[in-house]
Formats: sequence, structure tokens, C-alpha cells
Amino acid sequence: MRLDGMTAVITGGTRGLGRAIAESFLREGASVLCAARNPYDIKELADDHPGRLGYQRTDVSDEESVRALVEAAVSRFGRLDILVNNAGVSRDGKIARLSLQDWESTVTTNLTGVFLCTRAAITPMEAQGGGRIINMSSCVSTRTAVGAAAYSASKAAVDMFTRTAALELAPKRITVNALAPGYIDEGMGAQLAANPRAWETYRSRLLAGRLGQPEEVGAAAVFLACADSAYVNGHVLEVNGGLNWAA
Ligand SMILES: NC(=O)c1ccc[n+]([C@@H]2O[C@H](COP(=O)([O-])OP(=O)(O)OC[C@H]3O[C@@H](n4cnc5c(N)ncnc54)[C@H](OP(=O)(O)O)[C@@H]3O)[C@@H](O)[C@H]2O)c1
Repeated sequence: MRLDGMTAVITGGTRGLGRAIAESFLREGASVLCAARNPYDIKELADDHPGRLGYQRTDVSDEESVRALVEAAVSRFGRLDILVNNAGVSRDGKIARLSLQDWESTVTTNLTGVFLCTRAAITPMEAQGGGRIINMSSCVSTRTAVGAAAYSASKAAVDMFTRTAALELAPKRITVNALAPGYIDEGMGAQLAANPRAWETYRSRLLAGRLGQPEEVGAAAVFLACADSAYVNGHVLEVNGGLNWAA
């Protein structure tokens, strides 16, 4: 098992891609603390992996809440090896009609949340000799889409934050990479695919001709978390079935 004995915090680990990553990590032997604002029932998954799954109520945009999350991970598992900054929201809307509230909640969750969680994880990771940070970007961090200004701008910023964090944290033996999923059959991607007009537009752009599966994002996250990717740093890994925006 590639993550045997390691411990991970996964923000937004209660549903969607975060939950899929949590399941992949658990299968690979890691202990996982999932964080989100709303409680969820971890019993079934926890029963399958006794003593290795926890939940901490957290708002990633709140400094104190993030501090408590990292403290909870260290006190529960004794260390923090992997942080997955996955929590995110999408508030679509053309700029002319986009409310300040929607703009701010997108940027605060998707970007400020990544900053706060990364900053909080540095001390325990450095103290134990290193760690892995994986940020959740998106295919629209580098591609334009009408109505996605807030979301795509926040994800483009996550890409640059990832590269800068990799630069700053390399001396502490912490690697920082990002995953940029395309359209995944879970969470936000499944919502988009449920709209037949939107799905027709996007399907023609997918070399794979299908939505991605959440396990495929989980597998990429395991790669970035385990020893196989020791020489990968500051990279944004696209997991998008060969998304060709020009098609
Ligand atoms: N699904 C896709 O196709 C796709 C494609 C590209 C990128 N992504 C990215 O992948 C990540 C997960 O997306 P998803 O589709 O799985 O979304 P999702 O199903 O909506 O799940 C989002 C998760 O984030 C949590 N969350 C939201 N705001 C939070 C906050 N302020 N503090 C703590 N947790 C918060 C949610 O829990 P609570 O609401 O309970 O807090 C939930 O667990 C996002 O960063 C998204 O941008 C997804």
C-alpha cells in the first residue's frame, strides 16, 4: 500500500471528489481526516477502515477553524503528511450580473482557503521533516468559459499559488502540486453533465469521449501523495480525458 502509515487532511472530503480521494487514500493505507462545514455520516466508511477515518467540522475560509483542523489532525494521528486542499465552490454568472457576494464566496473558499490551510500545515510538516500538499485546480484555470469568471480566476490563482508555494517550501522538504480535473461524473461535473445542452458542448471536446470517474482523480491524488512523485514539484497535473478546448 503506497500510503501506509501516512496521515492526510482532505478539505471538502465529505462528498464529491474529496470523498473519492479520501476513499483512495484509505485503500492505500493512509489515515484520513475529512473537513467540511456540514457534518456527514462517516460510519460506513469508518467501519471499513477502523480507526483511520475522522471528520472535523471546518470552514476553510476561517483562520481559527483551519488552525483547529490542523491541530485536530496532529492530536488525533500524531503527524500530518498530506494536505489536500480540495474544498471549493462554483458560482457561475456573467460578470455584468455577478454579485459581489458570489464573487467573494468563490475567491474566499477556493483561493483564501488554500492559502490558510497551506500556511497552517507548514509547521507540523516541517517539524516532521517534510510533507505533501495537493491543491485542487480545474481545467478552466487555463481556459475561458462564459459565466466562469469568478471560478476560473480563483483556480488560475490556485495554479500560481501552487508554484510559489513549491518554491518557498522546497527547503522544508514539502512538495506542492495541483490537480486540474476536467469533467468528472461527481459533484460539480455531474451537475454540468446533467444539463443536456451543456454536456453536448463539452462532450465533443473530450478525447476520451466520456466523463471522468471520481476514482481516476483519486488515483492521480494518490500518485501526488506517495513516494512515486518525489521528483514532481510545482506541477499542475491535468486529469481531463484529453480535453481539447479548440474543438
Ligand atoms: N467535479 C468536477 O468535475 C470538478 C472539476 C474540476 C475541479 N473540481 C474541483 O474539485 C473540488 C471538489 O469539487 P466537487 O465537484 O467534488 O464539489 P462538491 O461535490 O460540491 O463538494 C465540495 C466539498 O467542499 C466542501 N466545502 C465547500 N466550501 C467549504 C468551506 N468553506 N469550508 C470547508 N469545506 C467546504 C463541501 O462541504 P460543505 O458544503 O459541507 O462545506 C464539500 O465537501 C473543488 O475544488 C472543485 O473546484 C471539480
